[in-house]
Formats: sequence, C-alpha cells, structure tokens
Amino acid sequence: MKAARIHAYGAIDDIRIEDVPEPVPGLDDVLIRVEAAALNPMDNKLLAGYLKDFFPLAFPYTLGTDLAGTVVATGPLVATVRPGDRVIARTDPASGGAFAELAAVPARLVVPMSADLPLASLAGLPTAAASAWQALFEAGAVQPGQSVLIHAGAGGVGSFAVQLAKRAGAHVTATASAANLDLVRSLGADGVIDYRNQDFTAFATGLDLVIDTIGGETLERSLGIIRRGGKLIGLSAPFDTEGPKARGIDAQFLFHQSDAGRLAAVAALATDGRLQSVIGQEFALADTVEALRSLSKGGARGKTLLMV
Ligand SMILES: NC(=O)c1ccc[n+]([C@@H]2O[C@H](COP(=O)([O-])OP(=O)(O)OC[C@H]3O[C@@H](n4cnc5c(N)ncnc54)[C@H](OP(=O)(O)O)[C@@H]3O)[C@@H](O)[C@H]2O)c1
Repeated sequence: MKAARIHAYGAIDDIRIEDVPEPVPGLDDVLIRVEAAALNPMDNKLLAGYLKDFFPLAFPYTLGTDLAGTVVATGPLVATVRPGDRVIARTDPASGGAFAELAAVPARLVVPMSADLPLASLAGLPTAAASAWQALFEAGAVQPGQSVLIHAGAGGVGSFAVQLAKRAGAHVTATASAANLDLVRSLGADGVIDYRNQDFTAFATGLDLVIDTIGGETLERSLGIIRRGGKLIGLSAPFDTEGPKARGIDAQFLFHQSDAGRLAAVAALATDGRLQSVIGQEFALADTVEALRSLSKGGARGKTLLMV
C-alpha cells in the first residue's frame, strides 16, 4: 500500500510516498481502509521533532492522526465495530499512520459513523472538533449566556469552537481575516472582528472565556479583556499561567489527547447535522508534501483533507 512516511525528524520536503507492507491489526486493533485523512498543524510539529518529548517517533513513521474510512478487519478482542462499518478515528500521535491507504488503530480510538453521511467530510473532526470540545466544555466550562471570544474562528479548531460555543448558549465573538468573516458569521458567531485591520481589544471587554489558538501577542492582549474570574484556554504552545492567575484570570494551556468519549460526542453532533465540518482544500495522498506546505503557510479555511 501507499503511505506518506519520514525516516528521521526533518522538513516537509523529506516526506516520501512509499510502497510499504499493509499493517497487521493487533489483538485490539481495527484495520481501516482510509477514505480521507485530515491535516493538522501538529503534523508539521511532529515531523520537525518539536514534540519529541511528548510523542517520540519511531522511524520509519507514517504521518497523520485523523482519518475516516471503512473497517476491513478487526483483531479478535474488538467488539465495538465490524468489517464494513464506516468509522472515524484519531491515532496516537506517536504512532501516526493516517496518511496511508490502510491504518491499524486501537479500537478505543475508533468511533462508528452512520451510513448516510459522506465519510470524507468527517475526517476533519477527530483532532480539531475534539480539541474545541475539550477547550470549551472541560477546560473552559462554558455556561449559557457567557461571553466567549474565539480567535481564528475560520481555522480548524476555531470553526468547530464557534459552532459548539453558540450551541452551548454563549454569546460568541470570533476573529478572522476579512475574507472569512462571512464564513464565521454563518457558523454562528454573533460578532466578528477582522483581526488584520481591527484591534480586537477595542471590541470586547469583561469576557468570561477566551479560546486562543494563536498565542504570543494575541494571547497577552486577550488577558486584558477578560473579567476577574474569567478563563483563557490557550492551545498553540505552553505559556506562563502564573501572571494571569495573579490578575484573577484562570489561564490554562490545553494539551489534547485522543479520547473516545470526546470523539463520540462530536461525532454524534455531526451525525445529527448539529456540527458542520468546513472543508477548505482537498489534496491527493500523493500530494501530501504540497498539502502540508499549504497548511504551514497559515490561512487555512476549516480543514484541509487528503483524499486517499
Ligand atoms: N494544544 C493542543 O492540544 C492543540 C490541539 C489542536 C490544535 N492546536 C494548535 O492550535 C493551533 C491552531 O490549530 P488549527 O488546526 O485551528 O490551525 P489552522 O486550521 O491552520 O488555523 C489557521 C487559522 O488561523 C487564523 N489566524 C492566523 N493568525 C491569526 C491571528 N493573529 N488572529 C486570528 N486568526 C488568525 C487564520 O485565519 P485567516 O485565514 O482568516 O487569516 C486561519 O483560519 C495550532 O498551533 C495547533 O497546533 C493545539
């Protein structure tokens, strides 16, 4: 089968599309024929070795964590899905394996999907939607009526976070560039801010919760518009949380880990049509290098997919 692999930490151009042996499912694994896989900024971070303390890679390593496809075979201990079932899955980042024609994934990381949804459109859910869920409902503990600012509302995480926050009854403001303001409004944002041409701190104050996938100056300046007792959940990189605490702000870095419960929660919403996936660009598996290069330039609109 074909797989997008690396043989050492390196750069996007080091990725090779190779013919490799088909994975053999272990006792508790599900073998999935991948229909689509979704890219995440984490793929580039894993490849570069930035996350090797958390997710040490064994080489050769097949990239990719998020996928949608059909079950081909199961290990003898698997009771949750059967061959022919349509599923989505998030592999452990240290194992990867989604950017390939077949992937063997532990059954606890696989969620069955109903037959009437276009599978490929669901491939973007696992990391981005589940991270948005964790940020809002677990770390952020969002409540109806609260004011929430979501940075990068048109991005992978942001496009799901806007919808989930709105569904939770929050008043949602989101930042995006001018070309994406209508998209973010259509996802449910009550207010939108063109972050390139407007100072977001001039449009919001006394916020209950900020979800920040940008970090740096955006994160620092966000602290100034959160009420005492409010929360900031940062996802881009670890940051100092003691300074905000001294100002009465509960600031946390969120580190998303694969979790079947969260994945099932977002899958259920998608199945009912209550959570849409915004699909920006689609590439072929053979064009993984081009796809990751495009993602690394920034400006992604929703999710970028590899159609396998
Ligand atoms: N900690 C965790 O567990 C975790 C989990 C998931 C993601 N993440 C991290 O979160 C970050 C975002 O992930 P993602 O999948 O959402 O990425 P993405 O889809 O690539 O997000 C790109 C979006 O960022 C927007 N953007 C860029 N600069 C901005 C700024 N200054 N203000 C507002 N929006 C800006 C762009 O908007 P425009 O095109 O409109 O300019 C684009 O829509 C990445 O660093 C990722 O690694 C961390």
